[in-house]
Amino acid sequence: MCGIVGYIGKRDVAPLLLEGLQRLEYRGYDSAGIAIQSKSSGLKTAKAKGRVRELESRIPKRFAGTCGIAHTRWATHGAPNDVNAHPHLDPAEKVAVVHNGIIDNADDLRAKLGAEGITLVSDTDTEVLAHLIGRAQEETLEARVREALRHIEGTYGIAVLHADFPDRIVVARNGSPVVLGIGEHEMFVASDVAALVSHTRQVVTLNDGEMATIKADDYRTYTTEGSRTSTSPETVEWAAESYDMGGHDTYMHKEIAEQADAVDRVLRGRIDDRFATVHLGGLNLDAREARGVRRVKILGCGSAYHAGMIGAQLIEELARIPADAEPASEFRYRNAVVDPDTLYIAVSQSGETYDTLAAVQELKRKGARVLGVVNVVGSAIARETDGGVYVHAGPEVCVVSTKCFTNTAVAFALLALHLGRIRDLSVADGKRIIEGLRKLPEQISGILQDEAAIEKLAADYAQAKSMMFVGRVRGYPVAREASLKLKEVSYIHAEAYPASELKHGPLALIEPAVPTVAIIPDDELLDKNRATLEEIKARSGTILAVAHSEQEKADHTIVVPRNEPELDPILMGIPLQLLAYHTALALDRDIDKPRNLAKSVTVE
Ligand code: F6R
Repeated sequence: MCGIVGYIGKRDVAPLLLEGLQRLEYRGYDSAGIAIQSKSSGLKTAKAKGRVRELESRIPKRFAGTCGIAHTRWATHGAPNDVNAHPHLDPAEKVAVVHNGIIDNADDLRAKLGAEGITLVSDTDTEVLAHLIGRAQEETLEARVREALRHIEGTYGIAVLHADFPDRIVVARNGSPVVLGIGEHEMFVASDVAALVSHTRQVVTLNDGEMATIKADDYRTYTTEGSRTSTSPETVEWAAESYDMGGHDTYMHKEIAEQADAVDRVLRGRIDDRFATVHLGGLNLDAREARGVRRVKILGCGSAYHAGMIGAQLIEELARIPADAEPASEFRYRNAVVDPDTLYIAVSQSGETYDTLAAVQELKRKGARVLGVVNVVGSAIARETDGGVYVHAGPEVCVVSTKCFTNTAVAFALLALHLGRIRDLSVADGKRIIEGLRKLPEQISGILQDEAAIEKLAADYAQAKSMMFVGRVRGYPVAREASLKLKEVSYIHAEAYPASELKHGPLALIEPAVPTVAIIPDDELLDKNRATLEEIKARSGTILAVAHSEQEKADHTIVVPRNEPELDPILMGIPLQLLAYHTALALDRDIDKPRNLAKSVTVE
């Protein structure tokens, strides 16, 4: 959410920053801006409402310099417009600041600065930072930034330029990611490695409460109190090409298409046929501890929460431990009882979602054991948790999650199998699940081959004014996720309900213009699900079934291959990703960057 990129070195900075912004645009795309430090003429800025290409068209020809910072914004305080776009400057135009996060006490600070006669030109919370740094009297830029941050309550990832200190960029982190990229006589800073990997894969990730000064030839890190910290660079796992569109028209399509490979990756090297189990190297939970777990609570937001719902069912079914999932955003505020025998699991693609991170921090404060199921290696949630399972989906650039959702569900299947085999899952059942897991990549490829048929269906369903998604037990999380996918990418209103709940209210909505997507695995609940189809048909509702065989009562059926019943939900979501994609395409939506959304929600 919002993207920062900065560079200091010998190269012409504007093209580098624009390229970085393009790569970060998925994190926010309502306005963008750039500030360049030029040795001859001080700070120069350009800003534009809209996408990075708007900014590009506004950059003057003579915008030379070898040090600069840039930002792509997802508005929190103040409408998206040129003035509210970052960077923000102090009145003397010596300080330029880009900021991700939210300054909670911005109103108070604006009032105080106003009382001192300072005029604020934007409606943003960030502008106060530029003024606070600008009026600080300390000798060094580092000390001035530190002094300004003393007044700030809230979250930030910032990068600061100062015309009087042209040899450096000062950055700080508290709740919003900041990564340094180390090159040959050049240094980068960004909120996300996506902006750096085409130049360097050597990175240093700042911790909360940490600052850094980057110069062309070196960097140093220290706390916001000024004490030096020691950091060693790590190598980014993902190559620059994995951020490219790879011949697809959208990242969403590319990421849906990649799922067979992605699932193959999450399984690779983890299956142990001899003992019908899996090895999860980073779990950090030994067999004795695992046997002592009395309950599992899974926390995540949006699609991660839905993957967690699948995870909870898998853990309950395979490991026979009571398990449930809850939105992290709710959990963190409800003063939940933290039980020492409960294993908490935080789920996140980005590993930076603020609500999930805050829930983890609250749990840790209360002494809980928290594991992570996370995609981005070394992200805040990955570092904050006691251990966990990496999802290995590769970079997910489309704002809408697809391959990471699927891989997370598979990672939960691995965890459930591991816990089950330590507790009371039989060898035979362990083998059965392993066989099912091994089949997944090929079955996913098979489902994706039916894309043309799903595209045809999408052309019809794109006319719907609203859609209902229903599923029962294993099918319900699939319905939840499919409904989210459709609404966020096509803007068609969609609701998801347990099929059993339809007659308790939502059935009132059923009519020909409100089609129902019904998830109907061929499991022990098949007859119950068929009865639901009858109820919908009796109200003239249109039905699209996702099932293991043609459903007589449905107007259309997408048939998916059978796996083991516990693993079926993983496959049943995939055609519905394609349905959302093609519906959005038919409606000419901005698929990779749906309105009002941004990836990696690092604010509350
Ligand atoms: C939906 C989507 C969001 C994210 C949610 C959590 O397609 O992408 O709902 O799943 O914002 O993000 P992470 O997984 O990064 O914590």
